[in-house]
Amino acid sequence: MIPALQTQLPQYTIQRVAAPQVDAVMALYQTNLAYFMLTDEEPPSREHCLEDIRGLPPGLEPWQKSFIGFWSENEPVAVLDFLTGYPDATCCWIGLLLVHQGLQGQGIGRAIAEAAEQAAVAKGYNRMGLGVIASNTNAIAFWERLGYRTVRHKQVERGNKPAWDVLVMEKPL
Ligand SMILES: CC(C)(COP(=O)(O)OP(=O)(O)OC[C@H]1O[C@@H](n2cnc3c(N)ncnc32)[C@H](O)[C@@H]1OP(=O)(O)O)[C@@H](O)C(=O)NCCC(=O)NCCS
Repeated sequence: MIPALQTQLPQYTIQRVAAPQVDAVMALYQTNLAYFMLTDEEPPSREHCLEDIRGLPPGLEPWQKSFIGFWSENEPVAVLDFLTGYPDATCCWIGLLLVHQGLQGQGIGRAIAEAAEQAAVAKGYNRMGLGVIASNTNAIAFWERLGYRTVRHKQVERGNKPAWDVLVMEKPL
């Protein structure tokens, strides 16, 4: 996956992110406080970052997940949480795409999403899916602009916090 992305996006250094890079992910997340206040109602913690880096949906193997960082001149530009063969064998899944707040609106999100779509096609997958919290209207508009459509809603329970209303969006590849 990463070599395919690197070929398409030579302007970035693209690397799998692991726990030792958690501080760089934190720094990137902290440029997007509005996103975390909207979704989690709190700023991102180190534990939250580590969970994003390491967390796997039930039943998935570690090789099916890549938490990928995009860097320019040693500064983090974006992260992409990418799953293959999820939620079924023909589909890939974007767990998170987050662009540095100061660099949004310049086509970076589109370039990364489209590179991920092409990498998925090259591996034989035929759908891309993702979940967006219903209140994240900016992200919904972004994904719709890229050709994603809502296929269903689901409630995601969060213990003592109100459940999330999540739009599951998909795009045929
Ligand atoms: C959503 C996000 C990834 C988009 O990245 P971006 O680099 O700002 O988006 P781009 O500049 O590539 O925009 C791509 C297209 O979407 C459109 N778009 C982006 N945001 C939009 C909005 N709020 N309303 C309408 N259109 C929008 C752009 O106009 C552009 O259209 P065009 O390519 O046809 O000209 C970025 O804003 C982000 O990181 N948000 C916080 C985290 C988040 O919500 N992630 C998604 C949840 S998985």
